[in-house]
Amino acid sequence: MFLTPVACCILCYLCTNSYAEEVTYPVDDTSGLGRRFDGIGGLSGGGATSVLLQNYPEQQRNEILDYLFKPNFGASLHLLKVEIGGDAQSTEGTEASHMHNSWDENYNRGYEWWLMKEAKRRNPNILLYGLPWAWPGWIGNGTRDPYTDIELPANYIVKWVLGAKKYHNLTIDFIGIWNEQAYDVKYIKLLRKVLDNNSLQHVRIVAADGGWGIVNDINNDSDLAKAIDYIGVHYPGTESVMSAVQTGKQLWSSEDFSTFNDNIGGGCWARLLNQNYVNGRFTGTISWNLIASYYDALPFARNGLMTANSPWSGSYVVNSPIWMSAHTTQFTLPGWKYMSHGSGVGKLKYGGSYVSLVSPDGKDLTIVIETMSHDHSICVRPPLPAYTVAQQNITINLGGNFAKITEVTAWYSQLRFDGKNDTFMQKVDIKVPNGLIHLRLDVDQVVTITTMKVGQKGRYPNPPPSKPFPVPYKEDFEAYEEVSHPNNFAQQVGVFEVRKSEDTQHGNILRQVVLHSPIHWCPNNLVFPINLIGNFNWTDISVSVDVQIGKENGTDGVFLAARVDKGGCQSFYANGVFFYIFPATKMFYLTYDLSRTQLVAKGSISNLQDGWNNLELIVEGYQLRGSVNGQLTFEHAIDKAPLSGFIGIGTSSYGIADFDNLHIFDTNKFTDISYEEHIDETLYFVPKHKP
Ligand SMILES: *[C@@H]1O[C@H](CO)[C@@H](O)[C@H](O)[C@H]1NC(C)=O
Ligand SMILES: *[C@@H]1O[C@H](CO)[C@@H](O)[C@H](O)[C@H]1NC(C)=O
Ligand SMILES: *[C@@H]1O[C@H](CO)[C@@H](O)[C@H](O)[C@H]1NC(C)=O
Ligand SMILES: *[C@@H]1O[C@H](CO)[C@@H](O)[C@H](O)[C@H]1NC(C)=O
Ligand SMILES: *[C@@H]1O[C@H](CO)[C@@H](O)[C@H](O)[C@H]1NC(C)=O
Ligand SMILES: *[C@@H]1O[C@H](CO)[C@@H](O)[C@H](O)[C@H]1NC(C)=O
Ligand SMILES: *[C@@H]1O[C@H](CO)[C@@H](O)[C@H](O)[C@H]1NC(C)=O
Ligand SMILES: *[C@@H]1O[C@H](CO)[C@@H](O)[C@H](O)[C@H]1NC(C)=O
Repeated sequence: MFLTPVACCILCYLCTNSYAEEVTYPVDDTSGLGRRFDGIGGLSGGGATSVLLQNYPEQQRNEILDYLFKPNFGASLHLLKVEIGGDAQSTEGTEASHMHNSWDENYNRGYEWWLMKEAKRRNPNILLYGLPWAWPGWIGNGTRDPYTDIELPANYIVKWVLGAKKYHNLTIDFIGIWNEQAYDVKYIKLLRKVLDNNSLQHVRIVAADGGWGIVNDINNDSDLAKAIDYIGVHYPGTESVMSAVQTGKQLWSSEDFSTFNDNIGGGCWARLLNQNYVNGRFTGTISWNLIASYYDALPFARNGLMTANSPWSGSYVVNSPIWMSAHTTQFTLPGWKYMSHGSGVGKLKYGGSYVSLVSPDGKDLTIVIETMSHDHSICVRPPLPAYTVAQQNITINLGGNFAKITEVTAWYSQLRFDGKNDTFMQKVDIKVPNGLIHLRLDVDQVVTITTMKVGQKGRYPNPPPSKPFPVPYKEDFEAYEEVSHPNNFAQQVGVFEVRKSEDTQHGNILRQVVLHSPIHWCPNNLVFPINLIGNFNWTDISVSVDVQIGKENGTDGVFLAARVDKGGCQSFYANGVFFYIFPATKMFYLTYDLSRTQLVAKGSISNLQDGWNNLELIVEGYQLRGSVNGQLTFEHAIDKAPLSGFIGIGTSSYGIADFDNLHIFDTNKFTDISYEEHIDETLYFVPKHKP
């Protein structure tokens, strides 16, 4: 097909000339529109994925939040999904519940309230969605099943929604069931009733944040069908099932992405954002996670739209998924409508896809085209079947109400793999003669064609360079409000909150507050509360901390550890150097692991005091030394321990223990150590010569 060349555009990627075969794609609303668009979002939590964000210096923190939430600036997200903390490990750490115990209620814990308010401050229309990963133990009414007494979880979740309004003036729009775990039909119906009963009819239920199983139940139970507003599934690989489409309910990919955020991650996200609708008719897509604001050494490093994991330096990276989001988010809003398949939505003949969205008043049109190649858009899951994409010239033929459009604006990205970034490039205006738009598309591009005159590639000066975690490091917890999460700590099991201590000498302290095993999300046996801090690469380190067993509901023992090599759901299997003390029996244990199966030494402690005691652990090469209250308790040469890892503090079981005055010093005295690689992909330290 030959078409008259019209004015060639400014940028060579967008060219109106055409000489080779050029396929025409109609964008026409004559035969009606497709589904309502619900938005694109990010997920903070599931778990503790934003833990390092709040303690960024104010300037960089505001910049980061602008890149995520500010309309027409960066990712400009429509939806923010957060974890409803359940006091249990939920991937990168533990998020605190608003009700650790049945008798306890507090709406200031953690950082999700803060994050939701910052998002609303930038975009008052951002929609909020809450979902639990785990539940405090009492919700099971003595069992490990949250649905034993369904009134308990229903009231607990509704309290969270009410608390959001009462204490933070936050309106929650969507509520989920139980992340990737069992749902209970009776519970979902009761949750709807309890919401309605509390004048929360506006809160819509998304079910069930897992697989497609819920669809059968919806089709078989009209009361359930009434209770559920959105079907939310995870990692659908852009495909849905016919029975789900036939329910007529809006379908969401309510957790997706989970891919390292380099340009391949950007390609994954761009492909999903289009093809989730093209292939699966998903009208909402949410990225796990919103922002990679957790230590890199934890699982799923940098699986966020951008990266901010160095608050002590102020360094952060705006990764390409931010700009891939912008291609859709800056030129659409929830409530717009997709056009119909074949007349604005579909696959491109030579690879890639396009979607068109229309504003509620029918006046504005946004078309997003992606040509992501297979190898440059692989997501972590599910597997991506092979396909090819070629350079191609296309014509968009605007029809129906859009036939009269004479000018549109184009934005484009070329994902590159040579270290250069051409993302969300400066807009160019294109004349549209006779409703025809000619585009030359290369591989790995995203192009937005829109009638909207908004859009901006937000920019701030380069953030400061990244620096390692600072040593020496001191934390006395005096600078925090009660129940806060202190800076740089990454609790993996249990919840450690700042509390005012009874004795004035200690002022604020850090308390492990979970009394009973929560109803876990992880499959593992997470029974040892542990809180990590520092640099995973630390080898030679000296650390000291004051500890006290709770007078009421206290745990038996507490520990101070170095070279802790694991977190996340694998926390139970963490290796390192663990210095446990058990005040009641006046015993210490030195172990290579959190679970105390690999004992190095044990003995009695002669100078243990009632109440507070100071523990010190020095790890230098293969020499370990531990002191209690300044007096040497053990000195030991090791033959096997992880080479490096975090500092850890924690307890021998659930129960109360207090910590204060954490001091970390880099010893770095021994440099003539050699290392060998051992089993389990863990790098173990092996002594070769004496220091
Ligand atoms: C919850 O536990 C209490 C005390 O054990 C018991 O009396 C009650 O029947 C339980 N509720 C349900 C629904 O199992
Ligand atoms: C609460 O938020 C609404 C917007 O959702 C705002 O109009 C109102 O002023 C806020 N109220 C307070 C007390 O801040
Ligand atoms: C609805 O609220 C009333 C009054 O607060 C209460 O008695 C009733 O048990 C509630 N029903 C449900 C299903 O929560
Ligand atoms: C449909 O629901 C009924 C009761 O509500 C249940 O007995 C039956 O097993 C369900 N069937 C399917 C296919 O889920
Ligand atoms: C391109 O972006 C990545 C982050 O996605 C960044 O690390 C890199 O420095 C950027 N390259 C240039 C040349 O700006
Ligand atoms: C697309 O059009 C350009 C001229 O604008 C031409 O050079 C190129 O070969 C065409 N590409 C294809 C794949 O047809
Ligand atoms: C740890 O060491 C590796 C290898 O030297 C380096 O790439 C990485 O950035 C270091 N991580 C931190 C947190 O310093
Ligand atoms: C200890 O547990 C009991 C219930 O077993 C509770 O009443 C009390 O408040 C708890 N005290 C603390 C400090 O947690």
